[in-house]
Amino acid sequence: MSEEKEILILAIESSCDETAAAVVKNGRDVLSNVISSQIDLHTLYGGVVPEIASRKHIEKINQVIQAALDEAEVTLSDIDAIGVTYGPGLVGALLVGTASAKAIAYASKKPLVGVHHIEGHIAANFIEHKELEPPFFSLVVSGGHTHLVRVNDYGRFDIIGRTRDDAAGEAFDKVARAIGLGYPGGPKIDKVSKQGNPDAIAFPRAHMEDAPFDFSFSGLKSAVLNYINGCRMKGEAYSQADVAASFQKAVTDVLVEHAMHAVEEYHMDKFAIAGGVASNSALREAMAKACAERKIKFYYPSPVYCTDNAAMIGVAAYYEYRNGTRHGWNLNAVPNLKLGER
Ligand code: KG4
Ligand code: ZN
Repeated sequence: MSEEKEILILAIESSCDETAAAVVKNGRDVLSNVISSQIDLHTLYGGVVPEIASRKHIEKINQVIQAALDEAEVTLSDIDAIGVTYGPGLVGALLVGTASAKAIAYASKKPLVGVHHIEGHIAANFIEHKELEPPFFSLVVSGGHTHLVRVNDYGRFDIIGRTRDDAAGEAFDKVARAIGLGYPGGPKIDKVSKQGNPDAIAFPRAHMEDAPFDFSFSGLKSAVLNYINGCRMKGEAYSQADVAASFQKAVTDVLVEHAMHAVEEYHMDKFAIAGGVASNSALREAMAKACAERKIKFYYPSPVYCTDNAAMIGVAAYYEYRNGTRHGWNLNAVPNLKLGER
């Protein structure tokens, strides 16, 4: 029996504040996953400073790529294609990754495969769930995105719902800052909420009559700010843990409700969450319960594959490579790249 040739992808991700590179075999096996996070640096400013992010990426990217090859115990000559995130994200940050990928692909005469960042987040689910194959439904919740997506096939998507304003992660980060938890807010709210009462404060859940699968989090964020200001004006102390837990419950309730509504409407029996907020413990728990009640198989990546990493880009790049996607030396960073555009 002839063995199928192994395909090795070297993947690069630099769309926000992590400089990352990975080597992925046959789209499912992660041989290395190197992440250099800039979080400590941006924490000083309370959020990601784009100019600083770009400069740090330039400083780190070559070391990170070399470390990914070394950890995978391969050299560039073993690699079949170079995958890279070319959007959406911060333009200066994306440019560092795309320029590096183009230089490596050109010098080593390897094909270049540009990847949509969200396609990467969804593909993170393939790493630890070898049996997962499209079609399935996905909720992508990150610092920049909140999308309900029908994954029709590898690299083929229909967006069923999206946020009208803030992304879920953005709401976590803003509320965390308001209640004095600092950046990055998501993991901190997740932790503090464990000490709080999620039913202590009735924060609003937004529903759009004309678009049942869309989200809106700016009203919720304002309600939290109003609540805090109200307490301050009355000279009353508020419980940080109760505010965090009640806010988190308001976000997860809406995410779960819309996701389950969509899964039922589209008759899907598989559901996967993705993106930084997918590592939220309350969201995972609530989604697992809601899926179990409906006999829907629920998938989620380990936390390291939820937040930005290059392994997920390597997985998405493998399927794009197999679908015949090739990019030229004119591949550019596209900060507002739409999912499914190529
Ligand atoms: O996917 P990601 O690393 O970057 C983007 O593509 O945006 O997501 C980062 C976002 C941040 O907003 C962060 O606060 C949020 O994910 N996040 C969380 C948790 N871990 C990260 N939000 C809620 N709970 C968490 N445990
Ligand atoms: Zn991301």
